[in-house]
Amino acid sequence: MEIIRTPRIMKETSKRLLTQGKTLGLVPTMGALHGGHLFLFKVAKGENDVVVASIFVNPAQFGPSEDFDKYPKDLESDIMKLESAGADILFVPEVPAMYPEGFSTYIGVRGLSDRLCGAFRPGHFEGVATVVCKFFNLALPTRAYFGQKDFQQAQIIKRMTKDLNMSVECITCATVRENDGLAMSSRNRYLSPEEREAAAVVYKSLKSAAHMVKDGVMPASVTEHMNVMLKSEPLVSEVQYAGVYNPETFEESVLPEKKYLLAVAVKMGNTRLIDNILVEI
Ligand code: PAJ
Repeated sequence: MEIIRTPRIMKETSKRLLTQGKTLGLVPTMGALHGGHLFLFKVAKGENDVVVASIFVNPAQFGPSEDFDKYPKDLESDIMKLESAGADILFVPEVPAMYPEGFSTYIGVRGLSDRLCGAFRPGHFEGVATVVCKFFNLALPTRAYFGQKDFQQAQIIKRMTKDLNMSVECITCATVRENDGLAMSSRNRYLSPEEREAAAVVYKSLKSAAHMVKDGVMPASVTEHMNVMLKSEPLVSEVQYAGVYNPETFEESVLPEKKYLLAVAVKMGNTRLIDNILVEI
C-alpha cells in the first residue's frame, strides 16, 4: 500500500491512474478503523481497480466542546488493517495541508443539515461536506463509499454531488453491528463496560420500532415508545432524538408513509451514539 501525505501528490497520483483508464474507489474515514470501515473497503475493492482510503480527523466538523482532541488515533494499527483489507493507497494529510492559512470556503447543504444530528451539532455537516468535497477534488474518485450508520451524512453528500454537478457516484453500504446489535463505531471505545452493555438498547429500540411501524402503528406512538424505552435505561444520560422520520427530508413522520427512517441519537455519559434503520412498508 502506498502512503501519501500531501494533497498535491494525491491529486497527481489519481490523475495518472485515471489516464491509465483505472477506476478509483474512495473510502473517507477519520481512522481508528473497525469492522464497519473494513466493510466499506471490501465493497470498494469489489467495484474498482484501485481503492483509496483516507484518514483525516477533520477539525472543521467538530464543535468547540466536542471530542476532536481526544478522538482515537491508531495509525499503525490502521495501516495494518488497511493492508489486509487490500487498500492500494492511503491518503493521510496533516491539518495545515488541508486547511492552510486563509482557508475560507465552506459548503452548506441547506435544510438537510439542520435536522437530526445537525440540530445538536451546529456546523458539523458544513465541515463534513467541505472536507469530503476536498477529498473528491484530490482523489478524483469514480465512486465513494459511505456507511448507512451515518445516513444523514450520506444523504447530505449525495445532495452535494447532485447540486454541484460532481461526477462521483456515492454508494451507501449497510451498517455493520456487534453481536448484540450495537453499530460499530470508533467512539464505542469510550464506553465503560457497563455502558457498553447498556448501549444495546439503541438497536433494540430501533428493532422494536420497526416491528411497530410494520404493524401499522402510527408514527407518533412509535416515537413515544422509542423514547420511553431509551429513557428507561439508567445509563442513557440524554436522548437527543429518537423517532420516525421521512428518509428524504428528515422531517418527523406524522401520517403513515411507504418508507421510514427510524433514527436515534443518545448520550451515554459523555459518549454520543447514533444509529438508524430504514423500513419500507
Ligand atoms: P468515520 O466516522 O471514520 O466513518 C467513515 C465511514 O465509515 C463513514 O461513511 C461511516 O458512515 C462509515 N461507518 C462508520 N461506522 C460504520 C458501521 N458500523 N457500519 C458501516 N459503516 C460505518 O464519517 C466520518 O468518519 C467522517 O465524517 C468523514 C466522512 C470521513 C468526513 O470527515
